[in-house]
Amino acid sequence: MFEQLKTLPQDPILGLMKLFREDPRTDKVDLGVGVYRDEAGQTPIMAAVQAAQQRLLETETTKAYIGPAGAEGFNRLMAQLLLGAEHPVLKDGRVNVVQTPGGCGALRMAAEFLKLCKPDTTVWVSTPTWANHIPLLGGAGLTIREYPYLDKATLSVDFDAMISCLEQAEAGDVVLLHGCCHNPSGADLDADQWSAITDLVERKGLLPFIDIAYQGLGEGLEQDAHGVRLMAERLPEVIVASSCSKNFGLYRERTGALMLIAANAQQGQAATSQLLSAIRSHYSMPPSHGAAVVEMILDTPELMQQWQHELGAMCSRILELRAALSQSLAPAGDFSFIERQRGMFSFLGISPQQVQILRDEFGIYMLDSSRINIAGLSAATLPQVANALQDVLGRTE
Ligand code: LMR
Repeated sequence: MFEQLKTLPQDPILGLMKLFREDPRTDKVDLGVGVYRDEAGQTPIMAAVQAAQQRLLETETTKAYIGPAGAEGFNRLMAQLLLGAEHPVLKDGRVNVVQTPGGCGALRMAAEFLKLCKPDTTVWVSTPTWANHIPLLGGAGLTIREYPYLDKATLSVDFDAMISCLEQAEAGDVVLLHGCCHNPSGADLDADQWSAITDLVERKGLLPFIDIAYQGLGEGLEQDAHGVRLMAERLPEVIVASSCSKNFGLYRERTGALMLIAANAQQGQAATSQLLSAIRSHYSMPPSHGAAVVEMILDTPELMQQWQHELGAMCSRILELRAALSQSLAPAGDFSFIERQRGMFSFLGISPQQVQILRDEFGIYMLDSSRINIAGLSAATLPQVANALQDVLGRTE
């Protein structure tokens, strides 16, 4: 059976992680995979998470199954985190949330759900988008089409191109949007653009599918949820995939949520029953631990306060690193877009050859597309990266 199989190339992000691990240089810098790092280059367990784990250890009474939807408390609190506790759709009973194995689990189960709604569903994704979006959604059998998103010259959102391309979408098509902190570009929609895209989706009868994996790491928990909240308020149906990997630092615990907003409570119930049946036939139930930690934090005022404080500090540090990097690179060109962008990622806008030189000669790792993880920089490595980049840019001009 196996003899005809060929070895596949590694996923670009995971492949780079491996290359970095195997590099023996001690001054190497990892700006590849999207994980938050502190000044010491570590990805620490947040203090609020540690405290919640300790409490869980003392209070947990069973490891019995939790069911395909996961923990009811986690789901309710995630809806409030995404929408705000007073959002009208919560009061109307139009919101259903299921706990998923990370944001990837939410994305894939949303795709499986969309296939049940309409087997020939088309999903429009931004160009560029996160490297795993197309495998996750296309792998479920959905048709993928792409809309332009980024102006390559300015590395900012090319909103006119995006809108005019989406005019070709047909009623019932799905549009995948990044809720905040666009991965890989860091170029986000502003409030006017969210409003305009909501108008377009409404007018054409499209279904918005928002992936929000970085809530709290762009500008703040409330600001980053603006697009989700607006669409939830104005549209009959919205799908939201969210992740607790980055904002709770729970990467390996695979903790995420999938939220369905339906036109009314009865349709929401029917849709959720379909989703739960799809979950049962894929992985049966999500893992419990990460979601139990998140639920404990969101449900305990002092832990919530501590978590918000820590997350706020991470967010501020990323903004400071953005400003410092764009200033350090000023002698080499206009990198002011880095300061305007949000979240963990920005493109440097350099060629794959220049990326390769940075990796080979300077031990600085980033994706071939020149996407860097801003949160992988520190006060110590920032000058090292800025100097190397200036060297490479000067050399090849
Ligand atoms: C990234 O984009 O680097 C992260 O979302 C990690 C991943 O799984 O790709």
